[in-house]
Amino acid sequence: MALMYTIFAMNTLKSSFPLNAWYAAAYDVEVVNKLLPRTICKQKVVMFRKTDGSVAVLEDACWHRLLPLSMGHLEGDEVTCGYHGLVYNAQGRCTHMPSQETLNPSACVRSYPVVEKYRFVWIWPGDPAKADPALVPDMHWNDDADWAGDGKLITVQCDYRLVVDNLMDLTHETFVHGSSIGQRAVAEAPFVATHGDRTATVTRWMDNIDAPPFWAGQIKQSLGYVGPVDRWQIIHFEAPCTVNIDVGVAEAGTGAIPPGGNNGDPALSDRSRGVNGYVLNTITPETDGSCHYFWAFARNYCLGEQRMTHQLREGVAKIFREDEIILEAQQRAMDERPDHAFYNLNIDAGSMWARRLIDGLIAKESTTEGTRNGVNARPAAAVIPIRAVG
Ligand code: FES
Ligand SMILES: [Fe+2]
Repeated sequence: MALMYTIFAMNTLKSSFPLNAWYAAAYDVEVVNKLLPRTICKQKVVMFRKTDGSVAVLEDACWHRLLPLSMGHLEGDEVTCGYHGLVYNAQGRCTHMPSQETLNPSACVRSYPVVEKYRFVWIWPGDPAKADPALVPDMHWNDDADWAGDGKLITVQCDYRLVVDNLMDLTHETFVHGSSIGQRAVAEAPFVATHGDRTATVTRWMDNIDAPPFWAGQIKQSLGYVGPVDRWQIIHFEAPCTVNIDVGVAEAGTGAIPPGGNNGDPALSDRSRGVNGYVLNTITPETDGSCHYFWAFARNYCLGEQRMTHQLREGVAKIFREDEIILEAQQRAMDERPDHAFYNLNIDAGSMWARRLIDGLIAKESTTEGTRNGVNARPAAAVIPIRAVG
């Protein structure tokens, strides 16, 4: 593989995200008949579940004097502002003003397109006319009878793209997660990075290795197998911020590795003697320096074992805590040295493609299109230059 020698411009390190995209705003269970405030892509919103079970998302600022509506109260499907009592319906239109009968026709707050899918509540912070529900990233493993699992939301004090970088290069498992999923073979095995218009994929197969502690336990518990394994990690990125990782191990030599290895067709992989999981991640920018990181781990074995679901969720949470410490320390170090230039290595190929795709979406919005549609225009982020030198 050519050594990629790349410097990325510093303004790509500032927080930057497209607005015309679906972003996970909450886990479904978080949203009940109660006001839930959250900042999504630097926009303050308030969410609540309506009496018909669907979710409403409004701008969290009263039209009258900007008091956050989340400080008011919800009655049925209507929100009463906690300052002077203006009432808004679930579409954001004012339905009552104290001491006057005529309602000012401009009295409304913004309401956001919302879709509930794969156990997440997704909102579209950009141009509502472009909010096509078919564009919600595929995370079906989180809500599928053939898979079992659960996850959590953590708020991480870093640019969301640092989390994407982290997930696109699993070499870090060797050094950050040595007691669970990390092993030398991950850092040493070759991988292949490919990309499409909105997606990037990193494929890595490890042939006939000792399973790391986590996977050794899973295949033993599920299939009673102890011995060498073939291991895989296939990382699927979908712009701007969703990363689903197909992971697992199978008894060595039973056909899990497709002909052609990293360049082979995963559909030809026989995993019948193995255990398969999906690490599901979608990372929503909160501010320039913080993000809501929604993750879940779904498995296709021991589906009825609720105790395993609980143990896996807590175990994976511990692993992700190791990442959180690294990512927040990295963000602090970057904030202290805002002019530092970064070089990319071979291992950064996946994250470079992810960032290119993100930058492409941002650049598209910062042309006249964004301004014309009234979407907050922002300066174009520089595309990361890539130069192969060896
Ligand atoms: S600020 Fe909400 S009613 Fe006055
Ligand atoms: Fe990690």
